[in-house]
Amino acid sequence: MIASMLDILIVGGTGATGEHLVRQLLNRGHRVRVIVRTPEKLPDSVRHHENITVVIGNALEMSDAELVQHVQGCDAIASCLGHTLSFGGILGPPWRLVTDSATRLCQAAQASEPAHPVRFVLMNSTGCRDHAAHERVSIWQRLVVQAIRMLIPPHADNEAAVAFFQNKIGQSNPNVQWVVVRPDSLINEDGVTPYHIQASPSRSAIFDPGKTSRINAAHFMTELMTDSDTWSQWVGQMPVIYNTETP
Ligand SMILES: NC(=O)c1ccc[n+]([C@@H]2O[C@H](COP(=O)([O-])OP(=O)(O)OC[C@H]3O[C@@H](n4cnc5c(N)ncnc54)[C@H](OP(=O)(O)O)[C@@H]3O)[C@@H](O)[C@H]2O)c1
Repeated sequence: MIASMLDILIVGGTGATGEHLVRQLLNRGHRVRVIVRTPEKLPDSVRHHENITVVIGNALEMSDAELVQHVQGCDAIASCLGHTLSFGGILGPPWRLVTDSATRLCQAAQASEPAHPVRFVLMNSTGCRDHAAHERVSIWQRLVVQAIRMLIPPHADNEAAVAFFQNKIGQSNPNVQWVVVRPDSLINEDGVTPYHIQASPSRSAIFDPGKTSRINAAHFMTELMTDSDTWSQWVGQMPVIYNTETP
């Protein structure tokens, strides 16, 4: 079932995937709020759209009261946050950008006492295992991921964000429901192409990664937030998205 007009909050909306997500939601007629550090990064057509509210700031730095105000009345929240791919962005603070932003937004959603559970969609990575689904990987992959975890803080951040949703929000929270979306290696494409969704990775994120276009990831996140059947299918899970390879 497709809902009519929803109110959706996006963090990371200036990013390569986030921009697609904001645009797709606006194109479908939804009202979008974005919390962004640099509004100039939003394309003019998005920034001046009648259905967008641009909040300048950072979810990590706002007061609790401000965050509750921005979350109030939201049907869904999505995070496309990612650490900037630079030396300082990867190795420097904030080391828990993804986890702490999601935690604070969920706390705000709970404090806003929503009439229905808020749908939270978190963009993550196939590099993060779903331990609740007992996913298994080779010993070699486990060793490499362990090294990455110690050397590259963004990976540990993504793992901590998963643990937050699985352990702290859980499966029966009255105020927040969640889906963690796991794309594989991200690529840029101009249009939505065939893609498939599965509960767990079918290839090694380290030794045999597949491809996921950012626009397809945004399309699936849009479907999740706006289509009740898609939401019911994946709520509380960590679906993986791969572009479908054409021969
Ligand atoms: N690269 C891959 O192949 C790959 C594969 C699978 C999953 N992923 C995951 O995909 C996610 C997003 O990827 P992407 O390429 O779309 O990201 P991206 O283009 O780098 O966008 C990152 C977003 O995060 C924001 N951000 C970065 N540092 C911030 C900070 N300190 N405070 C507040 N906001 C901050 C950026 O805001 P500004 O515009 O203000 O900088 C931007 O909106 C990441 O979480 C990554 O782990 C990546």
